[in-house]
Amino acid sequence: MKHEIVEKNVGLMMVLILVVISFGGLVEITPLFFQEATTKPVEGLKPLNALELEGRDIYVREGCYTCHSQMIRPFRAETERYGHYSVAGEFVYDHPFQWGSKRTGPDLARVGGRYSDDWHYAHLFNPRDVVPESIMPAYSWMNYVSMDGKNTDVKMQRLRMLGVPYTDEDIAGAKEFINGKTEMDAVVAYLQQLGTVLKDTR
Ligand code: HEC
Repeated sequence: MKHEIVEKNVGLMMVLILVVISFGGLVEITPLFFQEATTKPVEGLKPLNALELEGRDIYVREGCYTCHSQMIRPFRAETERYGHYSVAGEFVYDHPFQWGSKRTGPDLARVGGRYSDDWHYAHLFNPRDVVPESIMPAYSWMNYVSMDGKNTDVKMQRLRMLGVPYTDEDIAGAKEFINGKTEMDAVVAYLQQLGTVLKDTR
C-alpha cells in the first residue's frame, strides 16, 4: 500500500505534514491581506495626532497592555459591558496593535469619552482616589515629566512609510504640538480617542 510507505518513513512523513500545515496556514492567512474587511480603515478613522501618538508610546513603554486588552470580542457579555465589538478596520493604522489578551483591568478598546479628562488625570495620579478597590498602580510621576517632542516627527515619518496617512503639515507641526505637554497629557489624549470612531453604532 502506498500509505505504508509514508507511515514507515518518518522523514517523508515530516515533509508531508509540513506541506499540509503550510497549505492550511496559507489558505487561512493570505486572504486577510486582500480582504477589504481587514485592510480598509473604518469610515472616519484618523491617524493619531502627535500628542496621542506619544501617549500610545508611553502606554507601550509602561506596559499598560500587561493588564489591559484593547479588543472587544463579539459576545453578548462583552458588547453589553464595553460597547460595539472591535473590527479589524479600526486598527489599520496601529503599528503594532495593542489587542492583548490579559485583562487584570477592564478592556480599554472603547474607553474614549467614557470618562472626563479630569477623571483620567485623577485616576492615573492615584487610581484609589476614584476607584477605592483598584489595584492599578499609580502613575503620578507622569504628571511631572514634560516632553519636548524631539523625535515625534521621525516616528510619524516612519509610520507614514507603513501606510499611515500623515500629511507633511502633521509632521512639521509635531514638535510644537508636543512641546511643554506632560506625559500624562499624552496618555489621557490617547485614552480619550480609543474606540470613538465606531462608538455610536452600538
Ligand atoms: C497591574 C495591572 C494594571 C496596570 C499595569 C495598569 N492598569 Fe489600568 N486598571 C487596572 C485595574 C484593575 C483597573 C480597574 C480598577 C480601576 O478603575 O482603577 C484599571 C482601570 C483602568 C482604566 C479605567 C477603565 C474603565 O473602563 O473603567 C483606565 C483608563 C486604565 N486602567 C488605564 C491604564 C493605563 C493608561 C495604564 C498604563 C499607564 C494602566 N491602566 C496600567 C489594572 C492595571
